[in-house]
Amino acid sequence: MLTLHTAADLKSAVHTAREAGREIVLVPTMGALHAGHLSLVELAQAGRVLGGETGPRLPFVIVSVFVNPLQFGVGEDFDRYPRTLEADAKLLEGAGADVLFAPDVDEVYPQGQAEANHKKAGKAAEILEGHARPGHFDGMLTVVARLFDLAEPNRAVFGAKDAQQLFLVRQMAAQDYPGLLVQAAPTVREASGLAMSSRNRFLSTDDLRAANTLNRALRQAVLELEAGAPASEVLNAHKLQLEADAPQAKLDYLQLVSANDFEPVSENFHGSAILLIAAKIGETRLIDNLEVLI
Ligand code: PAF
Repeated sequence: MLTLHTAADLKSAVHTAREAGREIVLVPTMGALHAGHLSLVELAQAGRVLGGETGPRLPFVIVSVFVNPLQFGVGEDFDRYPRTLEADAKLLEGAGADVLFAPDVDEVYPQGQAEANHKKAGKAAEILEGHARPGHFDGMLTVVARLFDLAEPNRAVFGAKDAQQLFLVRQMAAQDYPGLLVQAAPTVREASGLAMSSRNRFLSTDDLRAANTLNRALRQAVLELEAGAPASEVLNAHKLQLEADAPQAKLDYLQLVSANDFEPVSENFHGSAILLIAAKIGETRLIDNLEVLI
């Protein structure tokens, strides 16, 4: 595995790999890698059969590790976000990634953060995480676009756990990066059902209990929705129940949106939806979601 720190080195490695007929696959991360990230790498390595071609090209898998200051708001956990580059490199080496791209901030934003090519995430970014974290998705898309411009991938892999992020990246890719396939990797969960997250390491035993209660509520709500119960009743009942069962968790939202356009669904909605939950437990913000067919 190559460990690269500069845009020039990355571009040169990509050029060589493309010349050799490889499919360029990017897995953007902020590091502090865990089994969830490794499942993204695995999906990246699995390759795909391209339309019109006789077989898949060998993927050239680039994993970027960069804690992007532009997607953290004032008072958020940018400083405390775990940085574990040495351990990340070992995990990626073991997983067989081709490149670890770990640039510093000047390499990503050579003109300075203020002068970066700022993206606007639009309407779907105003609700849920975007409402709780103003500017977060603009910053996220800004760095993702920069990474797309540097690596020029044929395919990019994102986790389904960040459902709103995935939706917005797909929206941007459809508009600005035609030909780029954005693939979603299913959320990897602990045995308890808790979604893996780099932030789980901050949870105490008590916090973990609350996080598991949130996860159980999410799963139970999906069962009820799929059994035909009205969405508003299900969501209200679970919000009240969570206040009683996990008082240390500050529930931010439990919301059902259409998978098509990320709009909150109306009472008579039928189709593919996503039930999303977010809560702050102590200083740690956790998010999760499940697909629902109603
Ligand atoms: O999901 C993340 O880890 C980040 O939002 C991403 C996509 C790497 C951009 O910084």
